Amino acid sequence: MCIRDRFLAFISKLLKPQNILELGTFTGYSSLCLAEGLSENGKLLTLEVNDELESFHEKFIKSSNFSEKIDIQYGDAAEILPSLEKETFDLIFIDANKKMYPQYFELCTRVLKKGGVLLADNVLWWDKVVNEEINDPETLALRKFNQLINESDQFSSFILPLRDGITIAQKK
Ligand SMILES: C[S@@+](CC[C@H](N)C(=O)[O-])C[C@H]1O[C@@H](n2cnc3c(N)ncnc32)[C@H](O)[C@@H]1O
Repeated sequence: MCIRDRFLAFISKLLKPQNILELGTFTGYSSLCLAEGLSENGKLLTLEVNDELESFHEKFIKSSNFSEKIDIQYGDAAEILPSLEKETFDLIFIDANKKMYPQYFELCTRVLKKGGVLLADNVLWWDKVVNEEINDPETLALRKFNQLINESDQFSSFILPLRDGITIAQKK
């Protein structure tokens, strides 16, 4: 159990969201933590590019108490997100391809409800984002993401220095 995962569950329990969107499922551990706070008829949609993880998902998600509440969609999150524009979410957790965070920000803003909460993991990238000598593609993209959200007049946001940084932002 890690503190980041308890934090995700804690925020979700505070919000009691009806609809959660997650970008980057991996084994499904964070999906299960976020699902702990879903309202009675709430749903979580998680997007994962690697369909070879399906056997993990069968084991961990499909056999869990939340199997009916969690839908997994396989594919590139940046390609799936525009097709979700008729859906809106109360809580979004970004944890997929770090180089895509600026695009995820734009795409997620469109499907996040007013008053909804955006969480994004790894935004300090083990402090590389604050080291001006480090300019690899992931670090540059995360720096850009932090700048976009910080300068956006649609969000109130801050970075929690939990593990390697989590953004918590509320859409106005
Ligand atoms: C850090 S892991 C997610 C961990 C998970 N959220 C957790 O905390 O348990 C990142 C995941 O994002 C997936 N991923 C990477 N690029 C992606 C993309 N373009 N679209 C969707 N998922 C992607 C990876 O395959 C990987 O499983």
